[in-house]
Amino acid sequence: MSADGRRFATRAIHAGQEPDAATGSTIPPVYQTSTFTQRGLGDHQGYEYARISNPTRTALEVALASLEGGEGALAYASGMAAISGVVQSLSSGDHVVVGDDLYGGSFRLFSQVMPRFGVECELTNATDLDALRAALRPTTRMIWIETPTNPMLRLIDVAACAEIARGAGARLVVDNTFATPYLQRPLALGADVVVHSTTKYIGGHSDVIGGAVVANDAEWLGELGRLRNTTGAVPGPWDAWLTLRGLKTLAVRMRQHEHNARAVAECLRERAEMARVHYPGFSDHPGHALAAHQMDGFGAMVSVELAGGAAAARALCEGTRVFALGESLGGVESLIGYPWTMSHGAFPEDRRVAMGVHDAVVRLSVGLEDAEDLCEDLVRALEEGVTR
Ligand SMILES: Cc1ncc(COP(=O)(O)O)c(C=O)c1O
Repeated sequence: MSADGRRFATRAIHAGQEPDAATGSTIPPVYQTSTFTQRGLGDHQGYEYARISNPTRTALEVALASLEGGEGALAYASGMAAISGVVQSLSSGDHVVVGDDLYGGSFRLFSQVMPRFGVECELTNATDLDALRAALRPTTRMIWIETPTNPMLRLIDVAACAEIARGAGARLVVDNTFATPYLQRPLALGADVVVHSTTKYIGGHSDVIGGAVVANDAEWLGELGRLRNTTGAVPGPWDAWLTLRGLKTLAVRMRQHEHNARAVAECLRERAEMARVHYPGFSDHPGHALAAHQMDGFGAMVSVELAGGAAAARALCEGTRVFALGESLGGVESLIGYPWTMSHGAFPEDRRVAMGVHDAVVRLSVGLEDAEDLCEDLVRALEEGVTR
């Protein structure tokens, strides 16, 4: 519940989305304009130029801040733009400790781009808090984690990482894309910054690319806003509007996503073709207790390891008809992906293997179709894969 006493689903629909002051429009209009007319020099209504701010984008930012329980939010042109925006607040000589089980694009940024600007990024297994402590240096300015991780769905203790970061005088950044604020609110657990690829569950319909940063430190957010204005990685008003429309139904979608994911995970666990099924909702998942403690549910991503190795994994990816083979996740339609060559192709092979992302792993983003159809689709593809 927020300070105004409203609960999550109500805020998703109403926070920042009051009727338009000029017209009464119930839905925030798409302010498709690059500039705002001033009555006199410097006499404007809070908006000057759309790279700095735009009312449609503001509506999205207010809603996101409310749902994550943050002081403010900034919307970006993509999840990677949001992540880049955060790391642009660092300076040459700074050090970042990065949880090593993470999205391939973030890995590329930390391993290939930031070192060129003198920011050293050290990958560490953040499920091991001693390893995390050992990685700290006097110059560590950020600890960066994703939880649940992509694609192996490991759980990282946000509150413990926040305490370690505080002790080191560093910020804890949590990529909350997989969980969404409906299932996990890292700021309440002690994190300093939340980042999102809003392309995923927040937008929810696979029709718009976007990103966001939410934080409590208003001064630092102001600095980030100035950086975003300087570098220009803003979403257009239509993209902000589409994301906001998706956001309105986040609560109801996440509940159904999770229901379907559990059904799919349970159905796959019965199959002889599976070596392992990773789903944090299973009581024997190594992160189950932590997920139950720090999340309000277990999410809708499921990763599986095929007993038949790479050939069986590829056959499954190419054999489904309801699950579409494609990059991304978090949309209403189910997606199947092969991290070995797709989302995690950017990692060197030895690192992929060390993370457990080997060539028999398949990642499922379970959508909102009928769960029975999803299970039947996977079972048929598995059976056909065996007979190929
Ligand atoms: C966890 C996570 N963070 C960040 C990103 C990057 O987001 P975008 O594709 O919107 O730039 C992704 C993309 O898949 C992701 O899965």
